[in-house]
Amino acid sequence: MWDRHQFGSGETEEAVLNRLRLLERVYDPVTNRHLETLGVTRGWNCLEVGAGAGSIATWLSGKVGPEGKIVATDINTRFLQPISGSPIVIRQHDILEDPLEEKQYDLVHCRTLLMWLRDPEKALRKMADAVRPGGWLMLEETDYGSILSVDASNPSAIVFSDTWRRGIEFLRKNRIADPYFGRRVQNLIDQLGFIDGKNEGWTRICRGGEPMARFDLAAAQMAAQPMIDAGFLAPETLEMMQKLLMDTTFDYPGLTMFSAWGRKPVER
Ligand SMILES: C[S@@+](CC[C@H](N)C(=O)[O-])C[C@H]1O[C@@H](n2cnc3c(N)ncnc32)[C@H](O)[C@@H]1O
Repeated sequence: MWDRHQFGSGETEEAVLNRLRLLERVYDPVTNRHLETLGVTRGWNCLEVGAGAGSIATWLSGKVGPEGKIVATDINTRFLQPISGSPIVIRQHDILEDPLEEKQYDLVHCRTLLMWLRDPEKALRKMADAVRPGGWLMLEETDYGSILSVDASNPSAIVFSDTWRRGIEFLRKNRIADPYFGRRVQNLIDQLGFIDGKNEGWTRICRGGEPMARFDLAAAQMAAQPMIDAGFLAPETLEMMQKLLMDTTFDYPGLTMFSAWGRKPVER
């Protein structure tokens, strides 16, 4: 079995930041729209777990103003330091291992985090405990199911779908990530006893070369070397995939970002 801790270790800092910025560019409008519906406003105390390059923490800081607080955590805070300063507090924190305050936050949010964790349920319990009674928990995780449904009449459909399917199998078999985590988010929130739950999945048909395809390319490049080493991917197939994902005449249904949210009942 591939050592999950080595996964992504060959990525340069520049490549990681490029991948995170593309993720933000594609999915921030979706996340911000959902956060708007929760009514995030001045004075809120928010926790952003696995904050990455920090765009959501920054957006939230504009909503809560100086009387609020945003705690932005990540196991590696290197890309978050530039946004440190009131009302944003940066905390180096492993959601699986490090203690977290309870019943503190009006909002606890994470995006594309749980699917990568070896024990997502443990992380989720801690995040749920951190929400104050009456506060919100929002989970957003990707699901690769939709990317497999590329139009079969497209001559490149077979190689495209087959390569993604192999990538998904590689991630699952080696317990690196759960590429189908997105479809679980609503149930997980419901099982925690949260109420007023809602969810939405977002995707679109994307064309090679667009930011969404470039994000998929960055994700594929992150997985490529471990897959090649393990005999799951031929270098020439990687080359073909890179071409397709930059080919402005090629289109395919993108990943689905599933967002779900619920409110912690007020104690009586
Ligand atoms: C795919 S990135 C998503 C970043 C950000 N949430 C976004 O959507 O823009 C996942 C982030 O989770 C962080 N992470 C991974 N394991 C973690 C853990 N155990 N505790 C906290 N953060 C973690 C990574 O360092 C990375 O920044």
